[in-house]
Amino acid sequence: MMKKFCIALCFQAFLLIVAATEPIPTTLDGPFKPATRRFDPSLRKGSDDLPIDHPRLKRNVTSFFPEQIALALSSSSSSMWVSWVTGEAQIGLNVTPHDPKTVASEVWYGKESGKYTMKQSGVSVVYSQLYPFEGLWNYTSGIIHHVKIDGLEPETKYYYKCGDSSLAAMSEELEFETFPLPAPNKYPQRIAVVGDLGLTTNTTTTIDHLIMNDPSMILMVGDLTYANQYLTTGGKGASCYSCQFPDAPIRETFQPRWDGWGRFMEPLISRIPMMVIEGNHEIEPQAAALTFQSYLTRFSVPSKESGSNSNLYYSFDAGGIHFIMLGAYIDYNQTSAQYSWLQDDLKKVDRGVTPWLVAAWHSPWYNSYSSHYQEFECMRQEMEQILYAYRVDIVFSGHVHAYERMNRVYNYTLDPCGPVYITVGDGGNIEKVDVDHADDPGKCPSPGDNIPEFGGVCHMNFTSGPAKGKFCWDRQPEWSAYRESSFGHGILEMVNSTHALWTWHRNQDIYREHSHGDQIYIVRRPQSCSVASKDSRLSPSIPPTLDIAAARVSSLLCYIILPVIILIGLLNNH
Ligand SMILES: [Fe+2]
Repeated sequence: MMKKFCIALCFQAFLLIVAATEPIPTTLDGPFKPATRRFDPSLRKGSDDLPIDHPRLKRNVTSFFPEQIALALSSSSSSMWVSWVTGEAQIGLNVTPHDPKTVASEVWYGKESGKYTMKQSGVSVVYSQLYPFEGLWNYTSGIIHHVKIDGLEPETKYYYKCGDSSLAAMSEELEFETFPLPAPNKYPQRIAVVGDLGLTTNTTTTIDHLIMNDPSMILMVGDLTYANQYLTTGGKGASCYSCQFPDAPIRETFQPRWDGWGRFMEPLISRIPMMVIEGNHEIEPQAAALTFQSYLTRFSVPSKESGSNSNLYYSFDAGGIHFIMLGAYIDYNQTSAQYSWLQDDLKKVDRGVTPWLVAAWHSPWYNSYSSHYQEFECMRQEMEQILYAYRVDIVFSGHVHAYERMNRVYNYTLDPCGPVYITVGDGGNIEKVDVDHADDPGKCPSPGDNIPEFGGVCHMNFTSGPAKGKFCWDRQPEWSAYRESSFGHGILEMVNSTHALWTWHRNQDIYREHSHGDQIYIVRRPQSCSVASKDSRLSPSIPPTLDIAAARVSSLLCYIILPVIILIGLLNNH
């Protein structure tokens, strides 16, 4: 009896093991046959926003104590931005801005808990969001503080407090760990990538799931709070602003949503850095043709450190990765300041020090969903060539509320040296998930659809290939490797200078272990796709194929050989 039980157990374990040890594909196995997993109708396409008085959004401090504390990387691992808000924001017909000088900006920090041996001061600012239309409310922020702390040691834990010591208004002690110095064999452990997050009940699942994956940094690819789905007077947010508020004199916003979002994110981003780039929901036009005021005032980014003259585009290093954050809502033409900065920045990248070149911007160039189809074709036509020439490895975007991973592509043609484009605009915002594909019958957008909120319209018919002469394909395009309509987030883990593991986690898998929506090793090929002779200096300490082979042998040992030995032992004893 015991023998039969053991044999049955062994067989079941074997089936589980076979499933668990199925090799993870690599981009070297591509290009892949296009695949689609459609939206699961048993799930919700969207959900309402969390109410502004929800416990995760409520202000839990008084007076000038810090709140909405957030970290951002500066130019290198030796410095870090710390930002926070003090004082109450005001909203109404008449508002009076705070004097930012009334509260100091201090960070006290050190390598031992409770012993703050160093102190750095910074700047404080306020912004207002003004709507000069009858009956519309105005907003002025709390005091927003930014302090850059420098002289930090790499790969070191620091403890810190922020606030104004003269007012005895300091935060609780918090901690963060600095990244390794830029080097081809040193990387942050896990980088979470998320876009179009919003502040709904789906958003909470995304962020709770992301926290369970224990990232060391967040790459936030635009469309953060969706405060512009509201009227200035608050109330209930709309999933479709123009449908619900057709008579609004301007695209209104309810700025307290930004404060709620800052509080919602604080437990995470006061301990790990979040690197943001703007999306269309950050434009927020107001009086005097001002735009992006909330985004520009609330977030510190290493723009000056990276030679940029705008917080709407910048670059930074995280270990052996050079990140380029591009602005899709600021001039990107080849005559622009941004393009000139991009040229200079790319020239300076030393792939011997930072082998990985990862770019991010909000609006995807490669997208086979009906939503935003070919919307940023003008930007692609201006910038794709230079990114290809410098061998950008991976591009992350959002904007489309679904997941899509492309085969390596350049100029709409499969190309083994093209970047891997990935869309993760599936954070869970109020506008709902995108489910239609441009190649579905009757779902090809009309010429008037998908007009960008910045820049021109460059929609074009394909000039060659299976879709020659047509605007939309009649099947999933060959450059689209995998697409799925679901909320989620991604985790990027660098293995070494040529291999990175990308995993896309779906919200519905939050409590399923070892489950994911998509997983692949992204493999660089510096020898066959070289930028310059510098790449030949790359020599990973362990050949990457050996790394993966070692991982597979180890899982074989743990999951198959050892249990079999144990079972044989059990059988012999009976
Ligand atoms: Fe967007």
